[in-house]
Amino acid sequence: MNYIFRNISNLVTCKGIPGVPKSGKAQNDIGLLKNGCLVTEKDKITFAGSEKELKKFLKGKNSYKELDCSGKTVMPGFIDSHTHFVFSGSRSDEYEMRISGSTYEEIAKAGGGIAKTVGSVRKSTKEELKSISSKRLEYFVQYGTTTIEGKSGYGLDTNNEIKMLDVINELAKDNEFGLDIFPTFLGAHSIPKGVSKKEYIDLICYDMIPKISEGKKAVFIDVFCEKGYFTADETDRIFSEGVRFGLIPKLHTDQFNSIGGVDVAIKNNALSVDHIEVIKKNDIRKLSNKGIIATALPGVSYFLSIPYTPARELIDNNVPVSLATDFNPGSCMTQNLQMIMSLASIKMKMTAEEIINAVTYNAAYALFNLGKTGSLEPGKQADILIYDFPSYKDLIYNFAVNRLITVFKKGKIIYD
Ligand code: NIG
Ligand code: FE
Repeated sequence: MNYIFRNISNLVTCKGIPGVPKSGKAQNDIGLLKNGCLVTEKDKITFAGSEKELKKFLKGKNSYKELDCSGKTVMPGFIDSHTHFVFSGSRSDEYEMRISGSTYEEIAKAGGGIAKTVGSVRKSTKEELKSISSKRLEYFVQYGTTTIEGKSGYGLDTNNEIKMLDVINELAKDNEFGLDIFPTFLGAHSIPKGVSKKEYIDLICYDMIPKISEGKKAVFIDVFCEKGYFTADETDRIFSEGVRFGLIPKLHTDQFNSIGGVDVAIKNNALSVDHIEVIKKNDIRKLSNKGIIATALPGVSYFLSIPYTPARELIDNNVPVSLATDFNPGSCMTQNLQMIMSLASIKMKMTAEEIINAVTYNAAYALFNLGKTGSLEPGKQADILIYDFPSYKDLIYNFAVNRLITVFKKGKIIYD
C-alpha cells in the first residue's frame, strides 16, 4: 500500500547531513515542517514537503491511500541502539534487594547479577529463548521503537554465546513486526565461573570471534570495561581481535568507575561509547569532534540510583548523543523509550529536539544504519510514527502517557 500523509500539524523529519551524526547545535535541529505532507511507496519514503510541493509531486500519479493528519505529529520510528533483549529468567528478587539497600555490585559479588541470568540462559534451549525474546518485541513497538540492537553476553561460552546470537539473527530475519534487529557479540560481558580470566579472554579471541565472524553472526563487538570485569588493556586486546575479524566496536564503559575505556574506544575507532555515567571531564574533551556516539542510558541511572550521564557537557563539547533503553533484567527492565526520553529531559536537561534526534538520527548512526533509517527523507525506509498531539513538544511534556496512535514499519502498519 502507498500512503499520503496530509495536513500534518508537526512533521518532524529529523533531516540531516547524509552520513554525519548530529552534534552540538545541529543536535537541536529536528527538520520541522508545519502543515507538512509525506508520501510512502511500498517500503520507502518518496516525498516530504509542503502541500504546494506535494501537488507538483503527485502530477500524473494516483493510487494512494490518504491519511488526514491534522492535529497530529508525525516522526521517524524510534531506534533503540543498546538492548539485551534476549534472556530468560527473572531478577525481580534482586530488584527488591536493591530497593532494600543492596547495590548492583554487592548483588553481583554474592553470585547474583549477570551470573544469575547466565545460569538460566544456559539452561534454556534456543527455541525457548527465541519464544520468550520474540514476545518482548511487542513492548518495544507499543512505545514507538521500530529498530533495535540486541546483544549476546549471557552465554559466556562458545556454544551459548552462539545460541544467543542465533536467536537474534533468526528474529532479525523473521519477526512478527518486521523490526530491524542488529546483533552484537558481547562475550566479554563477565567472566564465567570455573575459568580463569586469561583462559576466558583467549577463548573469546581464538574461538568465539573467529567462529562468529565466519558465520556472520554479529555486526558489532562489545565489552563491559569496568572494575571486576574487563580492564582497558583487556578491552583493547578483544577489540583488536574483533576488528581484525571485521566486527565494529561499541563499548560499555564508565558505568560505575572510569578505568580508561574511552581511550580504548577512541584507539579502536569505536562507533559508540555507552553508559558513561561517571565519565571524566578530560575524557569528554577527548571525545570532542570525533564523531563517536555517546549513548546515554538514563533508565539505568533511574533503576540503579546511580549518576546520570552528563549529556549537556557532551553536547556542549560537540559529542553526538544518543539515548537507548539498555533493556535487560538487571539494570533496566523496560522497553519503553518514551520513559527514557522523559528522564533525559528532566534528569539530563536535554531539549525536546536533542532528545528526538538522540532516538532517531544519532541512534541510526550508532547502528551504522543512517542510510536507511533515522529520518523521514525520500529514499529512506518508511518507519513512521503518528502521535495524537499537534506539537512534538507534547511527546516530552505529557510524560508517562502513551499518545502513539499508529506505527508503520517499512510502509506497513504494525500497530494501530
Ligand atoms: O548494560 N553493565 C553491564 N551490562 C548490563 C547489565 C547486565 C545485567 O545486569 O544483566 C548493562 O547495564
Ligand atoms: Fe548494556
